[in-house]
Amino acid sequence: NDNPRILAIETSCDETAASVVEGGKNVISTVVASQMDIHRRFGGVVPEVASRHHVENMTTVIEETLVSADMDYTDLDAVAVTAGPGLVGALLVGVNTAKALAYAHNLPLLPIHHIAGHIHAAELVADMQYPALALVVSGGHTSLIYLPEEGAYETIGETRDDAVGEAYDKVARTLKLPYPGGPEIDRLAAEGEVTIDFPRAWLESGSYDFSFSGLKSSVLNAVHNTQQRGDTVIPENVAASFQASVVDVLVERAQRAVSEYEVKQLIVTGGVAANRTLREAMKNSFPSGGNVDLIIPPLSLCTDNAAMIGAAANIAWKKGEWAGYDLNGEPGLAL
Ligand code: KG4
Ligand code: ZN
Repeated sequence: NDNPRILAIETSCDETAASVVEGGKNVISTVVASQMDIHRRFGGVVPEVASRHHVENMTTVIEETLVSADMDYTDLDAVAVTAGPGLVGALLVGVNTAKALAYAHNLPLLPIHHIAGHIHAAELVADMQYPALALVVSGGHTSLIYLPEEGAYETIGETRDDAVGEAYDKVARTLKLPYPGGPEIDRLAAEGEVTIDFPRAWLESGSYDFSFSGLKSSVLNAVHNTQQRGDTVIPENVAASFQASVVDVLVERAQRAVSEYEVKQLIVTGGVAANRTLREAMKNSFPSGGNVDLIIPPLSLCTDNAAMIGAAANIAWKKGEWAGYDLNGEPGLAL
């Protein structure tokens, strides 16, 4: 069957999500229950609280997904689930639900890597061409991944400290903005000007790795020093200046990797790829009709969702990568 209908489940962080995807391309239904309002009170994701809410919401989210797809389990060919990386307690809810459903309905169980999910979100809006390069920028990850062919992943660069989304969230906290900070900084930056020359963490030449903790500290110091001088901090300008530094680094790394690896496509994905300034900068650097085809999935496919897991699951299906009932959630799962 080249067009399997896969029920995909995602619970690696704070979104309880399910989706039915056909042939890795056609999203028949997709439901995301966000816990954002709950975690906002704590200023970030509290793992225990996340697990508990996944347990509460999981069944309803799956039911809603099937109802809106107008399907029952006899219409499905497989169950796929994010097996890692992520919060262990959160992952376990999805993994155990998927195992139970696969067993009860006699369906193959497909374990999916969360980052492969983010990458193959591209599949839902375009045809992927190889070799490809993916820049995955999220709350937990900042990685440059080379894909020589379908299903093969080579991480050529990653963050040595904070993930870029984490830096957004921490800078937002410094500016007393609510969690998650990314969208808040995005909004503020649009109203501000680049007035502070924050460092661009270039690391040693030739490296594709990233480092954002120095930038985060610079922002903190700049805000602190401004207050010490008795001057007013202009959050819009701090946000714009911070974002300018982040975007510069991300674009430079992508440009260098695209030319060194001579890829056909560049995929920019993950929660931070929802950022308007980053999207614009990438579009300007890789204009359509150029030698590389840029794919940035729409916002709802960039942040955590299960449709992207369904897209990646199609590749696991083709390769026959089924898991046994001993499948476990692995917080540090390698790609
Ligand atoms: O991919 P994602 O939903 O979850 C993870 O797998 O981490 O990414 C969440 C991250 C958060 O750090 C959030 O602040 C950031 O993505 N984010 C943004 C924007 N929207 C979400 N960062 C910058 N600009 C945005 N518009
Ligand atoms: Zn994610």
